[in-house]
Amino acid sequence: MKKANTRPKSELGGVVVLDFGGQYTQLIARRIREQQVFSAILPCTANLEEMRSYEPAGIILSGGPSSVYDREAPRCDPDVLAAGIPVLGICYGMQWIAKTLGGRVEPAGRREYGRAHFRAETQGQAELFRGLPGSLSIWNSHGDHVLAVPAGFRTTGKTENAIAAIENTEKAIHAVQFHPEVKHTEQGTAILRNFLFQICRAEPKWSGRAFVEETTEAIRRQVGDRQAICALSGGVDSTVAAALVHRAIGDRLTNVFVNTGLLRKDEFEDTLKMYRERLGLHVVGVDASDRFLARLQGITDPEEKRKRIGREFIAVFADQAERIQKEKSHDIAFLVQGTLYPDVIESVSVKGPSATIKTHHNVGGLPEKMPFSLIEPLRDLFKDEVRRIGRELSLPDEILLKHPFPGPGLAVRVLGEVTRAHLETLRDADAVVREEIRKAGLYEKIWQAFAVLLPVRSVGVMGDGRTYGLTIAVRVVDSDDAMTADWSRLPAEVLERIATRIVNEVTGVTRVVYDITSKPPGTIEWE
Ligand code: XMP
Repeated sequence: MKKANTRPKSELGGVVVLDFGGQYTQLIARRIREQQVFSAILPCTANLEEMRSYEPAGIILSGGPSSVYDREAPRCDPDVLAAGIPVLGICYGMQWIAKTLGGRVEPAGRREYGRAHFRAETQGQAELFRGLPGSLSIWNSHGDHVLAVPAGFRTTGKTENAIAAIENTEKAIHAVQFHPEVKHTEQGTAILRNFLFQICRAEPKWSGRAFVEETTEAIRRQVGDRQAICALSGGVDSTVAAALVHRAIGDRLTNVFVNTGLLRKDEFEDTLKMYRERLGLHVVGVDASDRFLARLQGITDPEEKRKRIGREFIAVFADQAERIQKEKSHDIAFLVQGTLYPDVIESVSVKGPSATIKTHHNVGGLPEKMPFSLIEPLRDLFKDEVRRIGRELSLPDEILLKHPFPGPGLAVRVLGEVTRAHLETLRDADAVVREEIRKAGLYEKIWQAFAVLLPVRSVGVMGDGRTYGLTIAVRVVDSDDAMTADWSRLPAEVLERIATRIVNEVTGVTRVVYDITSKPPGTIEWE
């Protein structure tokens, strides 16, 4: 399958971040974009020509877990340091620069981790620290440190234990042992800004508006007078991708929105209506509930459920694509996907070009099967940037602020076998949870709130009678990125209303429990 992306103008003149495998590499890239300067992450093994294709104003060498003395220590092309492009080394990046240019790097005698005290050695004269206080609280995470700076460099700052910053202004090479991209580093943003705007002379031109304009134009050129198709999920990414492509080619984009039978209460009808009436998208709604439920019959293993749903989705979409293709007088040549930057970045990029790219299955590996070129208008964006683009396109908050919802839908929230009856029960309970969370003004403050149906019966009493019904677990979590999460400390009154309403209003449920497991060790979903 061909990649059909062209690089917009606003992506030129930014910063290339070379990844040595550091845990903060993506954060560096985001901090730069927050300053309206484009950034691209490349594996440290990228060649200079590839870097130059971005016409970068600067290059940042990221941190990494290795020691420069490791036999397999990642390295980049030393010509990066002689290309006439300003360089900033961070942590491992600094050690690599020092070692490569003939300085001395000492293996860890004592690891510096966490908060440390930075003292400027040059009374504010160093370019990176211009205008900043001479003393800063900073965030460290390193073993090795630089013992002797290379010829032509000078030390511009120290911590109690180590040289913390060096510079060679003639070659425009700067380096810090600590992490300016981490919020715990005082004036970290100011340090990055000094690099971007004083040293690299970058222009702050990376904006949502420029992105929308240039991407629209690029899509228009690429599609010409042909047609495109898109599978909408009801989530932010596919909706923003479709809205962008629609802006470029109008109704020559046909969207398909599938009712898997695993959506929440009224979700299929409401979302379809919103797509059509508020976004003006051309959407084909397909009710494939029966197909999905038939595939799930008798299946209890969570991974097997996911696999079957993924495969069925591909089958349904393929049928639709074929049908639409036949109906259209022009050829459908493109498939739109809402792939994001983190899906694209090579997850193990330090190992070099041979390493596998993290697989991303937005619509379950669709592309390999179909004769379309891909349009992935969001493949250079982080999640928060996608929301900003959505705002730029005037998408409603109901999409932009929507909680994440798993692709396999309620199938992974009905524990055990997925039956129509259990789905119905879960839908009603879930609607109560979401309604009460909204009423309490909490929807936008929390990451996700939902109900899970446990096929476990317990005894209750209602009126004068004994009941013996199902259990609903309520899951509400706070999180920044779903990698870690904590259970939300909901007010007791909200929990009480949720429990009372579910037992009273949802037939067959006699007990409600609240999940107080954090992630890790738990996960957000129950399956
Ligand atoms: P876990 O349960 O792994 O979930 O802590 C992390 C986040 O991912 C969502 N999630 C999924 N999303 N397909 C998806 O598209 C899936 O199979 C899936 N499983 C979990 C989950 O809702 C949470 O936001």
